[in-house]
Amino acid sequence: MLTFTFATAGRISFGAGAAAHLVPTVAELGARPFICTGSNPDRFAGLLDGLPGASRFAVSGEPSFDVVRAGAAAARKLGADVVVGLGGGAVLDAAKAIAALVTNGGDPLDYAEVIGGGHPLTVRSLPCVAVPTTSGTGSEVTANAVVSSLEHQVKVSLRSASMLPTVALVDPELTVGCPPDVTAHAGLDALVQCIEPFVSGFATPLTDGFAREGIRRAGSGLRRAWADGSDLDARTDVSLCSLLSGLALANSKLGAAHGLAGPLGGLLGAPHGAITAAVMVAVSRANVAALTDQDPDHPALRRYAEVGELLTGEATAEAGLAWFAETAQLMGIKGLASLGLREDQVPGIALAASQASSTKGNPVRLPVERLEAVIRASL
Ligand SMILES: NC(=O)c1ccc[n+]([C@@H]2O[C@H](COP(=O)([O-])OP(=O)(O)OC[C@H]3O[C@@H](n4cnc5c(N)ncnc54)[C@H](O)[C@@H]3O)[C@@H](O)[C@H]2O)c1
Repeated sequence: MLTFTFATAGRISFGAGAAAHLVPTVAELGARPFICTGSNPDRFAGLLDGLPGASRFAVSGEPSFDVVRAGAAAARKLGADVVVGLGGGAVLDAAKAIAALVTNGGDPLDYAEVIGGGHPLTVRSLPCVAVPTTSGTGSEVTANAVVSSLEHQVKVSLRSASMLPTVALVDPELTVGCPPDVTAHAGLDALVQCIEPFVSGFATPLTDGFAREGIRRAGSGLRRAWADGSDLDARTDVSLCSLLSGLALANSKLGAAHGLAGPLGGLLGAPHGAITAAVMVAVSRANVAALTDQDPDHPALRRYAEVGELLTGEATAEAGLAWFAETAQLMGIKGLASLGLREDQVPGIALAASQASSTKGNPVRLPVERLEAVIRASL
């Protein structure tokens, strides 16, 4: 029997110029905005002109628990009544976590999955406006925030439907200045975030529609956006892929590539998309092999073939994986060894990945030794 739930941001505005809605949107939601930006707060300072009394909180790198603690303390002290995230996925996640912590109180670790208390966030977050400036995470429409624990060397999520942003403003023009490496990491991750929910056993007819269009947009725009960052049509394709990937992953589940990315990201400190791109082909090959072995009629096998068709016109899993591998190579994606992973760290990462929440979405169970083989194939 078909049943599913779908939840997303309260409102989504997409398209070149959408960011111009920022000031009136914030004014609708509160009088004392707390603005999270990236490490270069001046990059989009013009968009913030007209927000009276707005205070800025610069998030440098992917947010740690300390950054979330500091942001929530600053927002409370200022009596903030709305939070804005204007930046890459790291900034959006920091904004979402801060908006949740201000109203729920306590320490962010109380709510963290895996390494923390895992307590539910029961109080509605402060209103949050999410404005992505990279096209890769879809965090503007997801119900989680990824936070790094330096102590545990792992990245984990705070998660609650109440963390869905109130408004998402997705403006491809904001991504035009992204350098090629950021475009590559973020864009390949967006594609992985469409493929994993599409082959997951948790896929729904709604997430399928988003994932299919997202994969098609990545096939059309990703290489072009990387080669010429000023190509607004290509940037629009990749921004849409990213938004659709967030809609898909938040309402389905991911898979083993993201299950591996949690512990690998915490250990290596490499960009999230560089890691998911490095493991995606080996994860997919392991999935296709295990499914073919255990259940040759499994629907996920047809889905992998459809990914090939959407990306290349050839309806085979191998065509899609070859496209992904070629694109990653073109864009300079390195193996995990180049990112600093050592052979003796492989078993611990495989074990942690086998327990990660994203891995539960994988279309087939990959035992720890298969995950070790995937990591070795991605070195
Ligand atoms: N919550 C979710 O659903 C979700 C999903 C996927 C990933 N994530 C998280 O998102 C983060 C990755 O996000 P990301 O890929 O956007 O990278 P990022 O936010 O780390 O940004 C990468 C770099 O790009 C720069 N940058 C951002 N916008 C720019 C622009 N317009 N022009 C030039 N430079 C720009 C940033 O300053 C930074 O140096 C990770 O922390 C990951 O764990 C969250």
